Order: sequence, then structure tokens, then C-alpha cells
Amino acid sequence: MRPADRVMQSYGRCCASPTFFDTFYRLFTGSSPAVREKFVNTDMSAQKHLLRAGILNLVLYARGMPDSKLRAIGQSHSREGFDIRPELYDLWLDSLLLAVREHDGEAGAEDLAAWREVLGKGIALIKSFY
Ligand code: HEM
Repeated sequence: MRPADRVMQSYGRCCASPTFFDTFYRLFTGSSPAVREKFVNTDMSAQKHLLRAGILNLVLYARGMPDSKLRAIGQSHSREGFDIRPELYDLWLDSLLLAVREHDGEAGAEDLAAWREVLGKGIALIKSFY
């Protein structure tokens, strides 16, 4: 199976778990005060819906979708926008992988490696706008 298809199936299992995004944000905001301070005024329930679509955009980009959605995220997260320093994406990806392990009982080492590879491409694009 291609890595992007592997990720799509794993993501489907994660989204079927009602608390997947709660777990992700608990881990991500717990990973650093620098992350926590970015979300002090954020409506986290709205944020979870935005992230659900954001992750889908990362996977679709790896499958060949045009990069316009990710470019927009890159601009909103740049230093003129939310000012998200590039190293915070490492914490983001580590938190996501931990949440995947917790919520996708079928995810093996190959699936987790596929997640890193597939999301890594889109994350590199987003970071390039910083
Ligand atoms: C908002 C996606 C990484 C902090 C958003 C939004 C999306 C999104 C779709 C809604 C606004 C918009 O469309 O621009 C993503 C994706 C990420 C990512 C796909 C990973 C590749 C991060 C990281 C941080 C972060 C690493 C660091 C803390 C924020 C903040 C907001 C936001 C502060 C605005 C929240 C508010 O409205 O109060 N993100 N994000 N994001 N993101 Fe991200």
C-alpha cells in the first residue's frame, strides 16, 4: 500500500474515535509553554474541527492535490500571522503520532513511519512560509 493510502486508512480509524482530537491537543499543549501560550484565547472546540480538515489537506497534498490550502495555512502561521516558529512543528508531529498510537489500535511501525513521511512533505511547505 502507498504511504498516503496507509495514512488515509489510519486517519479514518482515528477520526472514528470520538476523543482523538482531545488527546492530540492535550499532548500538544502539554509539550511546551510556547505551544500553550499560542492557544490561550482559542475556542478549542472550533480549533479541533479546523485541524480535522487541516490534517486531511496534508494527506491530500501528498496524494497530489494542489498546494493552495497549505500555502494559505503557511501564510496564516507565518511571522506576520500567528507567528509559529518552525521548531514547534516537531512538537506538533510528535504529539500527533502519540495520539495516533493511542487511538488507532491497528497502527503498526510501518503506518507510523508513513504518517511521518506523508505529513512531513506538507509541513515542510507550511514552514517555508515562515
Ligand atoms: C490555526 C492547521 C500547526 C498554532 C490553524 C487553522 C488551521 C491550522 C487550519 C485555522 C486557521 C487557518 O486556516 O489558518 C494547522 C496544521 C498544522 C498546524 C495543518 C500542522 C502542519 C500549528 C502549530 C502551532 C499552531 C505547530 C503552534 C502552536 C495555531 C494557532 C492558530 C492556528 C495559534 C489560531 C488559533 C486561534 O484562532 O486562536 N491551524 N496548524 N498550528 N494554529 Fe495551526
